[in-house]
Amino acid sequence: MSKDMHMELIAPFSVYIAKIKLPDIALQKMLELTDKILEKKEKNWGENLVGQIENEWLISDAAMQEHGLNGFVVNIANTYIEEARANGRPLPNRPVRISSAWVNEMGKYEYNPLHFHTECLLSSVLFLKLPDLSKSNISKKTHGHRDGLLEFAAHAPFPTTGDAGQYIVRPEVGAFYIFPAGLLHTVYPFNCDGVRRSVAFNFV
Ligand SMILES: [Fe+2]
Repeated sequence: MSKDMHMELIAPFSVYIAKIKLPDIALQKMLELTDKILEKKEKNWGENLVGQIENEWLISDAAMQEHGLNGFVVNIANTYIEEARANGRPLPNRPVRISSAWVNEMGKYEYNPLHFHTECLLSSVLFLKLPDLSKSNISKKTHGHRDGLLEFAAHAPFPTTGDAGQYIVRPEVGAFYIFPAGLLHTVYPFNCDGVRRSVAFNFV
């Protein structure tokens, strides 16, 4: 194709996954908040979740407010909606609020089976602590190493349309992903030392 021509790629059929890098100050506040939640262990949220994870604890609205984080997180979700709507995604034209939030602290061999989030519009995950996943060796092959990774699965692959249907996320501390609640996702286990701490927020 010659340089004086322009090609625009249009993706009208895909869902949007937003990736936001949290500022250090917000990351520190989230770490402090989740340290407290994991120390107090007040409300076990595991019965509502499919995660094969011992430490899944509810983060109350009051705790979010106390740490000055509620408005900050809601604002990010509302920006996702505005941006997605501006790009033609049929999301409702109204602000959202947090309907539930919880911290997951995964240890060795724990995992999260393929699932989606019910009774909400959007969901999200924020990575707060990670083990050195390169030391995990449940995966025995050098290719296809998935230990501790997050994978989204939208649908079966459509090779003839160039759509893989799946998307793998390598967690990074401070990375915050927002996605439609009905989008299937899973987290693979790992077997190295350390914890994989994340927070999930559901929005309605
Ligand atoms: Fe989830």
